[in-house]
Amino acid sequence: MIIAIDGPAASGKGTLAKRIAAHFGLRRLDTGLLYRAVARAVLESGGDVEDPGHRRDAAKRLDAAALRDEAALRQPGVGEAASIVAADPEVRSAVLAFQRDFAAVPPGAVLDGRDIGTVVCPCADAKLFVTASAEARAERRWREMVAGGSDAAPEQVLADIRRRDARDTSRAVSPLRPADDAHLLDTTDLDIEAAFRAAVDLISGSQ
Ligand code: C5P
Repeated sequence: MIIAIDGPAASGKGTLAKRIAAHFGLRRLDTGLLYRAVARAVLESGGDVEDPGHRRDAAKRLDAAALRDEAALRQPGVGEAASIVAADPEVRSAVLAFQRDFAAVPPGAVLDGRDIGTVVCPCADAKLFVTASAEARAERRWREMVAGGSDAAPEQVLADIRRRDARDTSRAVSPLRPADDAHLLDTTDLDIEAAFRAAVDLISGSQ
C-alpha cells in the first residue's frame, strides 16, 4: 500500500504523514528531507546551490545517512536552499530512484512532498493534497520557530512561505500541484486531530 501526500510548506502534511503511517502500519519518508540533505551537503562543502555542478554532485552522492541529522536539515536557510536545488531536473532524477526504492519495500509506505502523487508514485493507492491559506501556514511555522527559541518576525515568515510557494508551483519540472485523482484537504480551519480524522476517512474511501 502506498499513500502519497503532497502540499505546500507548513500545510501540516508532515505531521499528518507521520500519524497516517502509524495508523496504517506503514513506513514513512519525508521527501523534503532529501532535497534538504542535498542543499546542506552543498552548503557544508562551501559550495553554491545556484551552481548546477555543485548541486548535481551532491545529489549523486546522496545516501540514507545524510537524513539522520534532522534538526540540522530543518534550519530555515536549508529549506530555502532546498527549494533552489529542487528546481534542477538532474537533482530531481537523482532523488527519484531513492524515493521509488523506499516505496517498493513491503508492506508499503507513506511518502510526503510536492510531487509524490504526480511523479514519484502516480499509481499510489491513495493521494491527498493538503493545503491551508498562506497566512495560516505562516502562523503555524512562526509559532514552531518561536517555540524553538527563534525571534523571527511574523511578516518575514509569511514572506518566506510566499516565496517558497511561488518557486515550488512555478518551476518547469514537477511543479507543486494536485494530481487529478488526489483528494483535497484544506486544513486552514482544522486542528491536527480533525485533519487526521478527515485524512483517514478520505484514504479509507480510496481503498
Ligand atoms: O517540505 P520541505 O519544506 O522540507 O521541502 C523543502 C523543499 O524541497 C521544498 O520547498 C521543495 O522545493 C522541495 N521538495 C520538492 N519535492 C518534494 C519535496 C520537497 O521539490 N517531493
